[in-house]
Amino acid sequence: MSLNSPISATLHMSPAKQIVLNPQPKASMVSLFPMLVSMKCVLTWLFFSMCFCALITSPSSSSTSSSLQSREASALLKWKSSLDNQSQTLLSSWSGNNSCNNWLGIACDEDSKYVTYVNLTNMGLKGTLKSLNFTSLPNILTLDLSYNFLNRNIPNHIGMLSKLFYLDLSNNLFSGKIPYDITQLTLLSQLYLKHNKLSGEIPPTIGKLLNIEILYIYANNLCGSIPSEIGMMSSLIEIDLSENSLSGKIPPSIGNLSNLIYIGFHRNHLCGTIPTELNMLSNLQSFNVYDNNLIGELPHNICQSGNLYYISASNNNFTGQVLKSLKNCSSLIRLWLDHNHFDGNITDDFGVYPNLEFMELADNNFYGHLPSNWGKFHNLEQLKISKNNISGCIPPELGEATNLYLIDLSSNHLTGKIPKELGNLTMLGRLFLSNNNLSGNIHVQITSLKDLKILDVASNNLSGFITKELFIFPKLLNLNLSHNKFRGNIPVEFGNFKVLQTLDLSGNFLDGTITPMLGKLKVLETLNISHNNLSGPIPTSLDQMISLSFVDISFNQLNGPLPNMRAFNNATFEVLRNNTGLCGNVSGLNPCTKPTNGSHNNNNKTKKVIFFIVLPIALGTLMLAFIYLKFSYCFCHSTTTRDNQVGGNIIAPTNVFTIWSFDGKMVYENIIEATEEFDDKHLIGVGAHGSVYKAKLQTGQVVVVKKLHSVADAENPNLKSFINEIQALTEIRHRNIVKLYGFCSHSQLSFLVYEFMEKGSLEKILKDDEEAIAFDWNKRVNVIKDVANALCYMHHDCSPPIVHRDISTKNILLDLEYVARVSDFGTAKLLNPNSSNWTSFAGTFGYAAPELAYTMEVNEKNDVYSFGVLALEILFGKHPGDIVSNSLQWIIMGSTLDSMPLMNKLDQRLSRPVNHRQAKELVCIAKTTISCLVDSPQSRPTMEQVSRELLSV
Ligand SMILES: *[C@@H]1O[C@H](CO)[C@@H](O)[C@H](O)[C@H]1NC(C)=O
Ligand SMILES: *[C@@H]1O[C@H](CO)[C@@H](O)[C@H](O)[C@H]1NC(C)=O
Ligand SMILES: *[C@@H]1O[C@H](CO)[C@@H](O)[C@H](O)[C@H]1NC(C)=O
Ligand SMILES: *[C@@H]1O[C@H](CO)[C@@H](O)[C@H](O)[C@H]1NC(C)=O
Ligand SMILES: *[C@@H]1O[C@H](CO)[C@@H](O)[C@H](O)[C@H]1NC(C)=O
Repeated sequence: MSLNSPISATLHMSPAKQIVLNPQPKASMVSLFPMLVSMKCVLTWLFFSMCFCALITSPSSSSTSSSLQSREASALLKWKSSLDNQSQTLLSSWSGNNSCNNWLGIACDEDSKYVTYVNLTNMGLKGTLKSLNFTSLPNILTLDLSYNFLNRNIPNHIGMLSKLFYLDLSNNLFSGKIPYDITQLTLLSQLYLKHNKLSGEIPPTIGKLLNIEILYIYANNLCGSIPSEIGMMSSLIEIDLSENSLSGKIPPSIGNLSNLIYIGFHRNHLCGTIPTELNMLSNLQSFNVYDNNLIGELPHNICQSGNLYYISASNNNFTGQVLKSLKNCSSLIRLWLDHNHFDGNITDDFGVYPNLEFMELADNNFYGHLPSNWGKFHNLEQLKISKNNISGCIPPELGEATNLYLIDLSSNHLTGKIPKELGNLTMLGRLFLSNNNLSGNIHVQITSLKDLKILDVASNNLSGFITKELFIFPKLLNLNLSHNKFRGNIPVEFGNFKVLQTLDLSGNFLDGTITPMLGKLKVLETLNISHNNLSGPIPTSLDQMISLSFVDISFNQLNGPLPNMRAFNNATFEVLRNNTGLCGNVSGLNPCTKPTNGSHNNNNKTKKVIFFIVLPIALGTLMLAFIYLKFSYCFCHSTTTRDNQVGGNIIAPTNVFTIWSFDGKMVYENIIEATEEFDDKHLIGVGAHGSVYKAKLQTGQVVVVKKLHSVADAENPNLKSFINEIQALTEIRHRNIVKLYGFCSHSQLSFLVYEFMEKGSLEKILKDDEEAIAFDWNKRVNVIKDVANALCYMHHDCSPPIVHRDISTKNILLDLEYVARVSDFGTAKLLNPNSSNWTSFAGTFGYAAPELAYTMEVNEKNDVYSFGVLALEILFGKHPGDIVSNSLQWIIMGSTLDSMPLMNKLDQRLSRPVNHRQAKELVCIAKTTISCLVDSPQSRPTMEQVSRELLSV
């Protein structure tokens, strides 16, 4: 049985869900027949010759064929009429009394006498199978109804389809038990019931399916134990019962299934040991039992096939010296053994795995030294052995595994220096060495680690000054040097970490003053410099750290006033305590007596500045505020205009005052009433800029009201242009842009009023497993195209172009049909609470283009970048994180159609794309998307190009 045969070409690259590489019968069965002769694969030949036999020996003779045909047609039509209206429209080609006459999804035998093939996959059909009379369709060989919305039971009379060899009901809403009579389908070769809501036990009679090769029942609610009769299904090649609630032991009879290549028992409640009989499985390639309650050892001969490339046994209670059994298993590609009680001396037991890409051994009891044969791990990308009992040095040879992207050796007993040779790992993005006993300074040849994003060496015995070389990590996001013995100043070069988000220097012996260059860290969110010997005032430049949310400066000798910014204004005494003379508006601190600036000692000069500059500004502000309050306005369109709905234009600013006294006020009051003064029971979400409410107006219309955290600032000289833009936005009618009905501003309150979108935000859908599964590949592709269209329209068809500035999953809303609409267009700029500055950063971290870290120049190319991140997030099901890196680009650009690396990254909650065309489409989209993510804005495509590219996919 060769891995290249179409049926077995199943590469189980992920433990979460194996991925079927195009099971051929999914494509048109009929069109495959001519290919048979040229098929080299034995299995395939058997598979088809079987169905030929079925055809040839068919009892239905030609004399009865015309009556059979009309019986088939009427059975199908009867079922069609039981489906919902939309489904019936989709099946409009089903008419007349000859179902062999170009009916969608139906194919017949060569003489067009009877239906042999039904393929209605992915058509959005809604209804049940109750009224599908299987008795009238005795010659069906293939039935594929996967990826629809069919619900209720799978009827027992499906057992009447006695010739069936391919049955796919996966990814529907079927509930109830697996019907007993399904076990009468003794010719069945492939059975897919995955991703439904089936409950109850697996019927023991399933053992009757002696011809079955692929059995996928994963992702249902099945309970009970795995029937030992499964051991009778001697043809079985792949079995996946994962993601159910199966309990009890794994039956020893599984060892009889000598053809078995793939086992998926993960994510159940299985207990007991793994029967030693599994040592007999001589063809095993992929073995997945993670997330169960299994104990004992893994079978010692599990790798006897010589082809075992995938083991996932994480999160059980396994014991034993597993690495010894795997020492010669050189075929391994991925190995997950973490969170068990495995032990063994890793110096002795570690084999050589030239194909290994991923090794996760965390949280076990492995001991000994790390071996030194890393030069032979050519393909290793991730090495995780944290939380074990590894001692000795980090071997310098680790620097020879040059594909490493992630190393996690934290929480062991490593000693010695961090070897310089790690500097050869040019792909390295994450290095975790915390909680060891490493000493010396950080002597990494840092210059070459240009992709390093996370460096965590906390809680070691590192000492010396923080070396200059450290500051050549241009992409560092997270730096943790805490709890070591570093000395000296915080070097001015820290200002070079343009994209740093987290900095922890706490628990060292740093002294001197805090460098004002920290103010350059515009995207830093967390700063911990507590437990050092830092002294002097806090530089005022820290006001410029506009993203800072958490700060801890406790246990130093700092004095003077706190910077006036969010992180300090919101700080508790806890994070400020034990300093020598801090003052400010935090309980526990003395208030600052004089508004002197700690770094300015020239009091005279300061006073002058206050008198001549600050005072007039303050007075002017007061006056402006007064004027503003007096003419407090509300730009809203009325609900009582002729079309009797919240719609149409915001009135131009010249008309503001008239509007305020009439319609605007009314809408304002309507909204206040509908939300019961923004009562929490109407709250449907909270975003960075505001809280979102659902409001049902008196007219019955449902709208979304986004109450802004910050009140629109009347002093803002750009308010006028903002209002102009809002007006422009309310005039836009585009299928993929959320209709903005208006903007209300009041002295205490500002809000935007939008069209209500039933499905809510993309963020919500991707977070919820159930919703994410319903959000299938077709829908995802369409959403990506929709967003591209919207951006293209705003960038290229609007004058002046409108830049969104905050594209993220929060701002993409979906309606019931999963049509995407972009919301909050152009509004990001006013809504950033901390900025009085028109162009200061307004986006969401993780989506913002890298150039925004050092320039405030806003243009369409920022959106292009965010779009790239968003599209990947839709494909991966989660934020691509910092893997928006060369290695990812390399993976995707190098992806061919069946390239595993990309397919591996796709949202594991969905099955692999159903057909070749779709897989190809996803690869093309990923490639287009990646071009949006290049660092240089000039090199990114325009949204017009992207949109065109996507259309041609
Ligand atoms: C399966 O193997 C067991 C031993 O593990 C044996 O007793 C049993 O007869 C076998 N069953 C079949 C159906 O071959
Ligand atoms: C592990 O094995 C090596 C090599 O055989 C040996 O030198 C070392 O002492 C062993 N370590 C432990 C902790 O047993
Ligand atoms: C770690 O290994 C040492 C021997 O190297 C042993 O004495 C100690 O008990 C081990 N600790 C744990 C927690 O397994
Ligand atoms: C820490 O490192 C210093 C040398 O830098 C060494 O003298 C000391 O023993 C180490 N401490 C521990 C606990 O290993
Ligand atoms: C800062 O670091 C200290 C010492 O490592 C720790 O106790 C504290 O919780 C940290 N502060 C914050 C806000 O995380």
